[in-house]
Amino acid sequence: MRIIFSLLISIQSVVAVADSTNPPALTPFKDLSTNMLFGTEVDPEALANDQPYADLLAKNYNIVVPENDLKFENTETSHGHFDFEHADRIVNFAMAHHMVVRGHVLVYQWQSEWLRNNYVDQYDHAPAGKFAAKDVKAILDHHIETVMGRYKGKIKYWDVVNEVVCDPVGTNKVDRSSLDTILQHSFWYRAFKILKEHGDVSEDFVSYAFRKAHSVDPDCKLILNDYGIEGYYGWQEKSLAARALVKMLLDQGVPISGVGFQMHQSYGNDPSVGDHLDKNIQAYKAMGLEVQVTECDIQIKLPVVSGKPDKVYGEPTPTDLKNQAETYYNLVKTCRESGNVSAFLTWGFTDKYSWIPWKYPGCGCALPFDKNYQPKPAAYAIEKALRGESISDN
Ligand code: G3I
Repeated sequence: MRIIFSLLISIQSVVAVADSTNPPALTPFKDLSTNMLFGTEVDPEALANDQPYADLLAKNYNIVVPENDLKFENTETSHGHFDFEHADRIVNFAMAHHMVVRGHVLVYQWQSEWLRNNYVDQYDHAPAGKFAAKDVKAILDHHIETVMGRYKGKIKYWDVVNEVVCDPVGTNKVDRSSLDTILQHSFWYRAFKILKEHGDVSEDFVSYAFRKAHSVDPDCKLILNDYGIEGYYGWQEKSLAARALVKMLLDQGVPISGVGFQMHQSYGNDPSVGDHLDKNIQAYKAMGLEVQVTECDIQIKLPVVSGKPDKVYGEPTPTDLKNQAETYYNLVKTCRESGNVSAFLTWGFTDKYSWIPWKYPGCGCALPFDKNYQPKPAAYAIEKALRGESISDN
């Protein structure tokens, strides 16, 4: 009897250990996302050096986007010099695993530093080492031809422009009366304004870039990507400006296929609950455009466990993780049920690699898998949303 009792105890302990170390099985997201690709941003260093990272990526996802490696200054490292090592690594991995690839991004005012820092607001004849408006157009043409041309037939969606809509300031609303007031006055904007005044181009830089991209790869779907435009009204009504911009582009016959909602959120902000995400998706559908969620993450504010000499942050609470899971669930469910979201991507998939702690110290744990690649409540919530189940179903 004593032997049987101790045997039972030891079986129970094994089960207990197994429960804590082996979380319940998770069906790969890609097997569940039938009407919507499900994907993530990819870090090429992790892909090359961290096998569990590559394995989890291949298992769960059917669309990927390089985090930084297709951006302007990472492909064109200096004027006319290109480097595709990291981007190729990700694209080749994706091709080998039958994944769709998004390109991010052709025209972005940031991470274009050698050009942005040396641009001068004049038509031509820039001083040595500087670039005038005419140079900017030649550089843009060559850049799009080279980068898009290289991946023609391999990259299905390109973010042609990223973050071009003005941020509302304070309580002022964005003026939506013209492209001049809707668009951020980046160096791209200013250069093309000068070119237009000289009759070199007939349109703004956004329209020009879309037409150029379409001429290089007519089969590629061309996306306008931005933040704060997820809800119907968006961040201080920025969404109204984004829709006004897209309508103007369509009226001008610009070849735009869709709009990317970045979807960087904290769990207090849920546009599917607070701001009619679905209505916004349907508004773009009515314009004939598809929507993609391109960079979703839901950051958590972490507790401080030590203040000296440097702040050390602890783990998220179970409540934080539950709230985060609910937000992921709501977003994925809304997008899946809308029938007009062609892809849903998170900005990374493991808390081991994420831009959040670098940018917002004290925040993090924004992704569905933890630093040890274990699924968090958010991962199970995504699974349920993709299955069409209630979040409370067992
Ligand atoms: O990790 C290093 C750190 O070790 C080093 O001390 C520090 C020095 O600056 O750099 C850190 O790397 C930074 C990296 O983010 C960390 O993730 C890079 O400098 C920084 O350039 C890089 O920023 C990237 C950011 O775009 C630049 O704008 C992020 O990787 C990338 O995730 C982020 O992506 C953007 C999308 O393109 C557009 N939407 C918003 C999104 C998040 O900002």
